[in-house]
Amino acid sequence: MRILVVGGGGREHALCWAIAASPLCEALYCAPGNAGIAQDAECFPIAADDVDGLVAFATEQAIDLVVVGPEAPLVLGIVDRLEAAGIIAFGPRADAAMLEGSKGFMKDLCDRHGIPTASYGRFTDAETARAYIREQGAPIVVKADGLAAGKGVTVARTVDEALDAVDQAMNDKAFGDAGAELVIEEFLPGEELSFFALVDGETALPLAGAQDHKAVGDGDTGPNTGGMGAYSPAPSLTPELEAEVMGTIILPTVRGMAADGYPYHGVLYAGLMLDGGRPKLLEYNVRFGDPECQVLMMRLRSDIVPALVASCDGTLSNFDLRWSNDAALTVVLAANGYPGAYQKGTEIRGLDAAAATGATVFHAGTAADGETIRATGGRVLNVTARGPSIAEAQANAYAAVDAVDWPNGFCRRDIGWRAVACEA
Ligand code: AMP
Ligand code: GLY
Repeated sequence: MRILVVGGGGREHALCWAIAASPLCEALYCAPGNAGIAQDAECFPIAADDVDGLVAFATEQAIDLVVVGPEAPLVLGIVDRLEAAGIIAFGPRADAAMLEGSKGFMKDLCDRHGIPTASYGRFTDAETARAYIREQGAPIVVKADGLAAGKGVTVARTVDEALDAVDQAMNDKAFGDAGAELVIEEFLPGEELSFFALVDGETALPLAGAQDHKAVGDGDTGPNTGGMGAYSPAPSLTPELEAEVMGTIILPTVRGMAADGYPYHGVLYAGLMLDGGRPKLLEYNVRFGDPECQVLMMRLRSDIVPALVASCDGTLSNFDLRWSNDAALTVVLAANGYPGAYQKGTEIRGLDAAAATGATVFHAGTAADGETIRATGGRVLNVTARGPSIAEAQANAYAAVDAVDWPNGFCRRDIGWRAVACEA
């Protein structure tokens, strides 16, 4: 098959790395890709949200399968467009991508189909939103309805903080059109867990558990980021909990979407809150987690390509994916200053030395400048290693991190700490 991966981050590098290993893959392209992805795929400088450009490229190159990494092109309808051009595409169509593209859509779906989630209201008017907050009290959570690059959620500890969040979204338009509507919801206490399943319209196949660390600082302190590291398996995801999440959240969603006329295809990433051991849905993403995908790909033993195709054509019920018994752990190296302002274009050395330790270095934000590799993003490298336990995978990943020579970058030194404490 001729395969195109859309995106240019660490998630897409891990997808390209796994797809390139498939005997079914004859030619692999990535748009826009990055300097690391270029080792596994031929990269073309078409932006991930340039739907017209990507559809034209896929048509010209006679691509058989397009695998879409990020949410933006999915919400823009890239899958609908590729299907209309006769090209198989992994990911939901635009209407089903609303599960991530509109938090209100997601909450209404939960309401219609009895899926456990925080109680909520939807608001397009600031005064009504304020009145709801005063009536409910704090803590309370204010969310921009649309895509806001992970920044549209305020977990407000006080009523004033929640009222400020309404002002920022609706008066200051801090999230543009994404904040024209708000979802205001009940604060759920507990422990967060990510859950991933492949979905083919009717059937869902759970993937291995994975957990990320969103906070920038050690001990899960400081501002939230896209994710500073991840590990798999997730010790809190027991077989019993997996069965409960499938039965009460994932399958009712898949059936509900089909019954409502928006059959879901692709990967469904549920952000869950465990309160007293019971899972409730915080959010859906319509794509793989980044950097969770990196650890999932490191543990996947089966060929990923047939599973991706089966998600598209509705034959997932025949599948049983095999996973390594080893754990995997990835450490994100980010540019100094991230998630605030950071310098671009700084030189990275020591990548060969890091790989020589046995780890795999996925690139998240790099570009080649002749023989030199330069940082181009906030999250730049995902140093990923396996080991018989999470503690050993962690030690292996940090041994490779220490071989990277990049004075302009930093990382957390405690990725996996909760899981390592569980193992001890
Ligand atoms: P979301 O993008 O909806 O996952 O929200 C981002 C983060 O905000 C989540 O990962 C949680 O840490 C937190 N969060 C979102 N909704 C709630 C809620 N209802 N209760 C408590 N925390 C929440
Ligand atoms: N790691 C969190 C995300 O991909 O949204």
